[in-house]
Amino acid sequence: MNVPEFKQRKSQGEKLVVVTAYDALFTRIVEQAGIEAILVGDSLGVVVQGKANTLSVTMDEMLYHTRLVAQTAVKSLVIGDMPFMSYQASVEDAVRNAGLFLQAGAAAIKIEGGNQVIDRVEALTRFGIPVMAHIGMTPQSVNQYGGYKVQGKEGDQAEAMLADAKALEDAGAFSLVLEAVPVALAKTITEHLSIPTIGIGAGPHCDGQILVLYDLLGLFDDFVPKFVKPYAHLKADALQALSRFKEEVECAKFPSDSESYH
Ligand code: KIV
Repeated sequence: MNVPEFKQRKSQGEKLVVVTAYDALFTRIVEQAGIEAILVGDSLGVVVQGKANTLSVTMDEMLYHTRLVAQTAVKSLVIGDMPFMSYQASVEDAVRNAGLFLQAGAAAIKIEGGNQVIDRVEALTRFGIPVMAHIGMTPQSVNQYGGYKVQGKEGDQAEAMLADAKALEDAGAFSLVLEAVPVALAKTITEHLSIPTIGIGAGPHCDGQILVLYDLLGLFDDFVPKFVKPYAHLKADALQALSRFKEEVECAKFPSDSESYH
C-alpha cells in the first residue's frame, strides 16, 4: 500500500483499516491479518511506556519504534506519528523532524491540529512528505481540554472543525484522522472531503477506522474509551498462562520429560 493507493480507496468505496503497531512482532501479525496501513502512534507513550499521556514521548523513541515497524513491514503503508514539540515550534522543526521519520522507513507522517498546522502541512507536502492530519480530540492537547473529551459538540466548534478539515485537505494532507467526534459531524466532514477520513470514536460514516492495537486486542485496560471494542482478551489470556506457569513450577509439574533434554 502506498499513499496514492490509500487515497484512492475512498473513490473506490472501499473502507480503510488502520491499526497502530510499535514493534516487529506485532507488525508481522498485523500484516498476516491483511491489514495494510500501520500507524506507529505516539500512543506508545501510554500503552508501551506506561505514562498517563503522550506528551513526554520523544523523537528518538518514535524513530526507534518506526524503524522496528518499517524494517519488518513488507507491504503496509507505515505512518510515523510526530510527537509533541517535534513540529509545534516552527515549520523548520516540522520539516526536519518529518524527514527523520522518512529516513527511518516511514512513508508518511501524522501531525495533530487544524488551522494552526496548515503551514506545516503545506511545507511538508511541498517537500514530498505525505501528511496524515488529525483533528477532533487530539491527545497532545489534553491539557487544554482538561481530559479526553468529545470535541465538536457545539455548533460553532463543529463549523470550525469542518473548516479545519477543508483547509487541511487544501494544504495537501492525504488523509484525516477524526478522533472522538460526534457521528453526524464526522459524516458531514467525510462527505465534504475528497481525501479519506479515518475515524476513531467518530462513528461508522468515516472512510476508514483506526484503533490502538493493544486496545483492540484487549491487552490494555487501564482506561478503555467508549469507542474501543476489544476483539480479543489477550490480557486475560496472559494472566491465565502466567498463573498456570507459576503453579506448575511451584508443584514441580513443569518442566516435564517432554520439555527436557536427555
Ligand atoms: O497515537 C495514536 O495511536 C493515534 C491514534 C489513536 C490515531 O494518534
